[in-house]
Amino acid sequence: MAVFCEAVADGLLLALSLALLGWGAEGQGNGRGMKEVSGSATVNLGQDRDIWRPLIHTTVNLSEITSIKSTFQLRTFDPEGVIFYGDTKNGDDWFVLSLKDGIPLMQISKEDVLVSVAGGPKLDDGKWHTLELSNQGKFVILEVDGTSGLVVGTQSKQPEEVLSGGLRLALGGILIDKEKMIVQFEPQMDGCVREGSWLNLSSPWETEVEELWPCYQNIQPGSYFAGTGFAIFNTSGFPVDADDGLKIELVGDFSQMNGTIFSIKSPRHEWTVALVADKNTNVVSLTLGQEKTLMLNSLNKLVIIFQRELLQVFQDEPGETPFSVSLGNLDVLTTWTEGRLAVGGLLGEGEDSVGSHFLTGCLEKIQVQGKDLDLDLAVKHMSISPHSCPA
Ligand SMILES: *[C@@H]1O[C@H](CO)[C@@H](O)[C@H](O)[C@H]1NC(C)=O
Ligand SMILES: *[C@@H]1O[C@H](CO)[C@@H](O)[C@H](O)[C@H]1NC(C)=O
Ligand SMILES: *[C@@H]1O[C@H](CO)[C@@H](O)[C@H](O)[C@H]1NC(C)=O
Ligand SMILES: *[C@@H]1O[C@H](CO)[C@@H](O)[C@H](O)[C@H]1NC(C)=O
Repeated sequence: MAVFCEAVADGLLLALSLALLGWGAEGQGNGRGMKEVSGSATVNLGQDRDIWRPLIHTTVNLSEITSIKSTFQLRTFDPEGVIFYGDTKNGDDWFVLSLKDGIPLMQISKEDVLVSVAGGPKLDDGKWHTLELSNQGKFVILEVDGTSGLVVGTQSKQPEEVLSGGLRLALGGILIDKEKMIVQFEPQMDGCVREGSWLNLSSPWETEVEELWPCYQNIQPGSYFAGTGFAIFNTSGFPVDADDGLKIELVGDFSQMNGTIFSIKSPRHEWTVALVADKNTNVVSLTLGQEKTLMLNSLNKLVIIFQRELLQVFQDEPGETPFSVSLGNLDVLTTWTEGRLAVGGLLGEGEDSVGSHFLTGCLEKIQVQGKDLDLDLAVKHMSISPHSCPA
């Protein structure tokens, strides 16, 4: 057992042996088309890339590690996504920190042990939180804002190994096959990390992107549309009961929006429903098929209920008498499952995802059939920030 104390200052090695450090005999990947960034840079994890791919990453030699602690700040309204990854032995032993339902989730694979543990405070409140990860003996400890969030102990039946070589760290993605994790989750994280101190390392990290996206100074909950793209869902994902109808609820300052808020199209039946905001006139209009357009005053909330032959529109107050209009032969419900729903743009003809009249503005809430619409599940343009708006 004396063996392992060689590479690193005593005690550390074991500690480090988990995800937080380790080694990967391969790539000293410095340079080669990568851009260098500081590990303490502000990193917008929502930046467009392949969904599992880390935004920034680094490889260091275990012998350089003098600290068992990593600290950083996280800010997000997104309840689910990957934050931090570390591995040793080129991915044989690994560690993943993510959020699920807003709560920290750690998954650790070390030799023959695979564990997942979730707990601690909800972090998806849009405030900056300080997270500290440390590896103390057999334990990995996550502290949130100075108080203990999670403690995980692992003990292998295998003899401890000699640690040497490299350790890979990554933000916003993982370097192993996602199938290896116990708990699956949606990786995209609309959030920001800043002031990272990673095992007290000063060497730069690397990124494949040209330029890191900035983070807004202040954010509020909602989905932000920058006016350059939209999000598309298959309507078959939203089951509709012909008796109860289809309910779409939108909240936001419509007077600050410009462009198509949503559109629904059934390609085979050639109708389009579209809700459009015009910032110049402060009018929101709902177009139903070819014939009808309703003009609505600027408002903050809109509930639209499609029934078999009737459309009801509620503005602002729940108890109010709705505005009703006959749908005539525009049978949205019967052909609903064959169509597509786009948020933030007008659907074009056919099955492709070409749109127009894109929305600029913040939708604070979008619900379909009483459930929040998760834009992470849509085919969506990279300019959309699904869980936060600038404030
Ligand atoms: C790590 O550093 C040690 C000592 O400086 C060296 O012997 C070893 O080759 C290095 N390993 C890697 C993977 O660079
Ligand atoms: C962190 O690194 C700095 C120099 O880079 C050093 O002065 C300091 O002692 C280190 N802290 C720890 C806890 O190792
Ligand atoms: C919608 O369904 C088509 C096939 O029917 C599929 O190719 C496409 O990815 C789906 N889109 C979404 C957003 O689920
Ligand atoms: C709103 O969008 C229309 C059409 O895209 C554009 O012509 C107009 O300038 C926009 N108005 C504002 C205030 O952005």
